[in-house]
Amino acid sequence: MLIDTHCHFNHERFATDLDVCLTRARQAGVLQMIVVGYDLTSSEHAVALAEQHQGTLFAAVAIHPHDARHWTPEAEERLTALAMHPCTVAIGEIGLDFHYDFSPREDQYRAFRDQLQMAHRLHRPVIIHCREAYPETLAILEQVSVAQIGGVMHCWAGTVEEAQRAATLGLKLGFGGTLTFKNAEAIRAAARTVPPDTLLVETDAPYLAPMPHRGQRNEPAYVPLIAQKLAELRGLHFEDIAALTTRNAQTLFPGLAGASSSESSNSPSASR
Ligand code: NI
Repeated sequence: MLIDTHCHFNHERFATDLDVCLTRARQAGVLQMIVVGYDLTSSEHAVALAEQHQGTLFAAVAIHPHDARHWTPEAEERLTALAMHPCTVAIGEIGLDFHYDFSPREDQYRAFRDQLQMAHRLHRPVIIHCREAYPETLAILEQVSVAQIGGVMHCWAGTVEEAQRAATLGLKLGFGGTLTFKNAEAIRAAARTVPPDTLLVETDAPYLAPMPHRGQRNEPAYVPLIAQKLAELRGLHFEDIAALTTRNAQTLFPGLAGASSSESSNSPSASR
């Protein structure tokens, strides 16, 4: 069994064939997926999908750094209600994005810190988006003692040194399709060297499809391609990486472990 710890089934690119994608995921052994929100609408959508596919889909809710300029007391109130929903297993994705800078950095910092506080208050782990802001992001996560709530650096793209620092802070590292890209030596180096209990797999679907699907729409059924690459890099069998990353995901997101995935395959909503 594999868990896709980060996908966007709430994205419009899955509006017409979500059930087909879920069937393909199940056939590929990907039995649980976290649907990650990035604004209020997508967070609400994530919770609704998790309600419809209980035990298979789970929600993470948050305002992405791209949308940080829309972080208001009203947004915080709505997000708090969504975060307390039983299908919600994490706050995310939150963080800093200095590559695009779609929101002013001041707003990004404010939304990031406030949502970390919310996660502490509600005892929820965090899913971190970080682009060209590793030193700043890790510094904040250290200040707020992220180890107390747990968190994952999603779609890891930092240096080996930054990966070690993240692991020291008690963070997990999410490896996705980029692990299979030709020019991603630094990512592979990090994947080879971080402690085994930090390893998670994810797709970030519909983005960043692994080889040989690069450039196409990504989907959770491709997680085995990422796990296979990780197995090669660590010198482990595929089954061992599957068991290890599943255990790590269940440790970080306790809401997943309580769910029975056999229950979900019989759920009436799955065939709709
Ligand atoms: Ni994402």
